[in-house]
Amino acid sequence: MITVGKNQTTSDYVGIADEKSRAVLICGKRGSGKSYTLGVIFEELQAQENCLLIVIDPMGIYHTMAEPNGAQERELWDWGLSSRGLPITIHVPGDPAERYGGEDVIREMQSRGVRFHPLRLNASDLSPDSWCDLFDIGVSDAMGIVLYRAVQNLRRQRKQFFYVEDIIEEVKKDERAQERTLEALINRLEMARDWDIFSSNYREIWEIFDLNGVNVIDLSVVDPGRHGLRNLIVDVIARDFYKRRTVARRREELGLLSDLPRVWMAIDEAHQFVPAGRASLAKETLIRWVKEGRQPGLSLILATQQPAALDSEVLSQCDVLLVHKLTNTEDTNAINRLSQDYMSSELKALVQKLSRSGEAILVDDEAEILTSLQVRPRVSRHGGGEAKAP
Ligand SMILES: Nc1ncnc2c1ncn2[C@@H]1O[C@H](COP(=O)(O)OP(=O)(O)OP(=O)(O)O)[C@@H](O)[C@H]1O
Ligand SMILES: [Mg+2]
Repeated sequence: MITVGKNQTTSDYVGIADEKSRAVLICGKRGSGKSYTLGVIFEELQAQENCLLIVIDPMGIYHTMAEPNGAQERELWDWGLSSRGLPITIHVPGDPAERYGGEDVIREMQSRGVRFHPLRLNASDLSPDSWCDLFDIGVSDAMGIVLYRAVQNLRRQRKQFFYVEDIIEEVKKDERAQERTLEALINRLEMARDWDIFSSNYREIWEIFDLNGVNVIDLSVVDPGRHGLRNLIVDVIARDFYKRRTVARRREELGLLSDLPRVWMAIDEAHQFVPAGRASLAKETLIRWVKEGRQPGLSLILATQQPAALDSEVLSQCDVLLVHKLTNTEDTNAINRLSQDYMSSELKALVQKLSRSGEAILVDDEAEILTSLQVRPRVSRHGGGEAKAP
């Protein structure tokens, strides 16, 4: 069990049973404490040292977890805790110094205990469909047909490894396509090469992940509007870990050694990745995580301001809810629909009473409990405060 806080009436510790895989939804209005709570859960998981931890960080705020929370020493003391920085590895799509605006930024962050890794995707890890989705072209459009064929051919010939350059060469060889189609497609592939998120030598993604600390995927450096690149990165990572955990699980069942422990992945601003009412590159894979992730040992935490903007299939799979202050009726209704009937009216009443940041309602479907709690203070520094005038 991981402790999240204390029951507001009885002061008993309250938490989430984590022996089995869980799908957790953290929601609440702006500034209600969602990212903070997500950090608390990850501090707890990190202390247990038995799972791989990944945070998908669209705002670039989780690097501060490498530092101790000096600002709340008193509260921590009241809780019998002391401040501590966690081992944090930031995976930066592309070249870290370039994306962060200088070597000095990297050096300063390193001096605060952050480790950096450039994160680059293997072109061959993307399916032909994903390549078409990435450029927003249909698989039956003129360009889509050529691209699909090129990637498919490379997959057949090389089995595993190929790079953006190889796709360009393969497209050039296509004799059935019109000149203009080829040119337009090659332009897009060259653009993809310039994004600097595809690798030019094959490397297994999971090899660079730290098994003992928190792996932060910093998506704030990737333009959100650009062809669903953020989604693509999440999709490739989620798919890779799904596949690897399926293999690892089989080994564990046979009593053999496996090199990959269970995985907890947290996604902040989750509506960007599993939106309601429209497709996204990562959606299908994430739906699979929450629906079928129990067997391979994959847990997911989704944090969002707008639960009503999350895909309903994903919402309905969440078996733990942490609800912070919510004011929007549409979002409150979305949450109520999720809770068991017998809890619905009680939940609504409790949510209305929430006032301070850090207060939340925990609904655990498995344990069939509904508790109002105060989330504990963070031992590591919380990022994400607003910029203030100097
Ligand atoms: N459990 C807590 N104890 C003490 N302070 C807290 C707690 N939770 C949140 N806070 C305070 O509230 C502020 C806002 O929290 P947080 O950044 O987690 O909000 P959020 O819900 O993620 O907001 P946004 O929707 O803007 O992302 C924090 O900077 C922190 O100071
Ligand atoms: Mg937040």
